[in-house]
Amino acid sequence: MAREITTVGVVGLGTMGAGIAEVLARHGLGVVGVDVDQSSLDHGRATIEHSTQRAVDGGKLEEGDRKMLLDRIGYATDLGALAEVDFVIEAVVEQIDVKIAVFTALDGIVADDVVLATNTSALAVTQIASATRLPSRVVGMHFFNPAPVQQFVEIVRTVVSAPEVVESASALSTRLGKSPVVVGDKAGFIANALLFAYLNHAASMFEQQYASREDIDAAMRLGCGYPMGPLALLDLIGLDTAYEILETMYLQDRKRVHAPSPILKQMVTAGLLGRKSGRGFYTYAEPYSSTVV
Ligand code: NAI
Repeated sequence: MAREITTVGVVGLGTMGAGIAEVLARHGLGVVGVDVDQSSLDHGRATIEHSTQRAVDGGKLEEGDRKMLLDRIGYATDLGALAEVDFVIEAVVEQIDVKIAVFTALDGIVADDVVLATNTSALAVTQIASATRLPSRVVGMHFFNPAPVQQFVEIVRTVVSAPEVVESASALSTRLGKSPVVVGDKAGFIANALLFAYLNHAASMFEQQYASREDIDAAMRLGCGYPMGPLALLDLIGLDTAYEILETMYLQDRKRVHAPSPILKQMVTAGLLGRKSGRGFYTYAEPYSSTVV
């Protein structure tokens, strides 16, 4: 019988992990959030506090419920804090070596019937699974940004994922109010395989000074009805993460449309990571702010 899920470990409390922890706690689950150092952890906690305060201010959450939500989340800098959890969702940086190190460490910490899910956008889930002791319990669980808002989750099954593991990740997504779909392990899965060629093209268009950033974004918002322009979306995703996703997709499929636009690498090298660093294609009031100045 599948393990009952009452507490979920979230590894990496950045852009995605903080949002995923919030969603889990909002749906009554206990959460243990782990990040690599105290300042990242504090940042993740502050993100969750701000986001839930905005929900209260916007009338979407009662103050009392916010307090209970926040009380359900514990924080740690050591993966050992996950010894008792029932399910783990990993959301560390999009780098294969870092993810494999996290999964092999988790292997020796959690019980054998605990599902290990990765929120990777494009890395091979099969490669991460193969580095572990029990590859059949590893699955992809790709949330969308911002996790508290977006409804879709891609559940990535590998050739060795156990059917009950795929089912457990799907059931957890449904419990969180999301619409899960099951996909195979191909870089970019469904949404990013379609989205990133377009985002990359927008970055190239900006690089070539063909049009201003505002006009590129306005074309897609006001002309095509997209909720956000591509450059603003790249800033939301994080240019470092976007670069890693494109590079992974390009290495796998060699499609020119996925060869990262050089400006992305230049901006990442210069520390212009988008909203998370306070500056990307646009400049923001402070790191992680959505207010453009
Ligand atoms: P981020 O850079 O905002 O956050 C990553 C976090 O992981 C940081 O807080 C960092 O301190 C932490 N970390 C790094 N190494 C760690 C370790 N060994 N142990 C514990 N924590 C560690 O990255 P973001 O954007 O949240 O991406 C995380 C994952 O989610 C990536 O796999 C990415 O592809 C995926 N993703 C990102 C989306 C986006 O729009 N940014 C959307 C969907 C998935």
